[in-house]
Amino acid sequence: MQGKQVLIFDTTLRDGEQVPGCKLNKKEKIELALQLQDIGVDIIEAGFPVSSPGDFESVSQISRILTDVTVCALSRAVQNDIEVAAQALRYAKRPRIHTGIGTSDSHIKAKFNSTQEEILQRAIQCVKWARNFTDDVEFYAEDAGRTGNEYLARVVEAVIKAGATTINIPDTTGYCLPHQYGQKIAYLLNNVPNIDKAVISCHCHNDLGLATANSISGVLSGARQIECTVNGLGERAGNTALEEVVMILQQHKDLGYYTNVKAPQLNPISRLVSDIMRMPVQPNKAIVGSNAFSHSSGIHQDGFLKDATTYEIIAPEEVGAEGSKIILTARSGRSALAHRLAKLGYTYTRNDVDVLYETFLKMADSKKEVTEVDLIELATNYQPLVSEAV
Ligand code: KIV
Ligand code: ZN
Repeated sequence: MQGKQVLIFDTTLRDGEQVPGCKLNKKEKIELALQLQDIGVDIIEAGFPVSSPGDFESVSQISRILTDVTVCALSRAVQNDIEVAAQALRYAKRPRIHTGIGTSDSHIKAKFNSTQEEILQRAIQCVKWARNFTDDVEFYAEDAGRTGNEYLARVVEAVIKAGATTINIPDTTGYCLPHQYGQKIAYLLNNVPNIDKAVISCHCHNDLGLATANSISGVLSGARQIECTVNGLGERAGNTALEEVVMILQQHKDLGYYTNVKAPQLNPISRLVSDIMRMPVQPNKAIVGSNAFSHSSGIHQDGFLKDATTYEIIAPEEVGAEGSKIILTARSGRSALAHRLAKLGYTYTRNDVDVLYETFLKMADSKKEVTEVDLIELATNYQPLVSEAV
């Protein structure tokens, strides 16, 4: 692979699983973890072991089974959380403890009733505790998106000195604009003297629909890890969607980045996550939505049928999707109608298509979509004008 690698940290099993109704049992978590390993993610955040005995057991089992990825467990900046996380990870070939604390004024005052100095000390302490169990410690500065850059830089410098090897800069509330998030990452790279000893990670939430844009902006500013979930699942409006960042970096090779994720497995894993979590994917979802490769307006259909690249920047097979679809509605054109009829074995002259199109439009105006059954009815009731086919 050419260029700089962006590590993919998948948190479908932790942040994604926090979505109401998406809770998984141990068997489901293991099944998904194996598939995530298979598609090529680098780090799997398997859970939050102190949160429940079931989650502890899931992280523990996943640690035993997965050998080709780093297995990560979440903890708060609490000694017992960290010890329990370490215990759950004890069989992992490559264990990572993810620990941290809120650093914004809002979190420091409203959540902890504390001060910046006290929080700084707790941050240092939690990293030191975690380092007793593994060399791979990731620190998260929760609500970093709303944390002042100067204080954030002090925290980051101190936790790297204490032994953190990855620094997660979460935009926990999805507040930042892409240029602001990018500037935050650039500020840390330019103002934290020991920043070269750690990887900076983006963890962006989607409250304003900017999670993916913010993560990419972070990478363009120097971050080398993206935390994301399949289908963009996660707290509230969700997290950065794995399939989106993978395809953005693949489509824009000129940017000079790559990931290890196998793009043809993106649609299959999306379906698996949707099925297992019983969470439908919105039809217009980028890369994995059922309409991501559907064309329904006449102008688009005509161009697409002449050359698919006029209206598709990704071929469906590149991302494991079923294929492109020509959907027939009252906005569709003659070429789309002729194409769909031909697929059913009915070929007509241009004049026939013109006549058929009038009947088709009346039918299409009365319903949302003209189906195969409707087309067969249309063709069977039609007497061709001439026998020559188009
Ligand atoms: O959004 C967030 O800040 C988190 C942290 C726990 C990493 O999920
Ligand atoms: Zn999060």
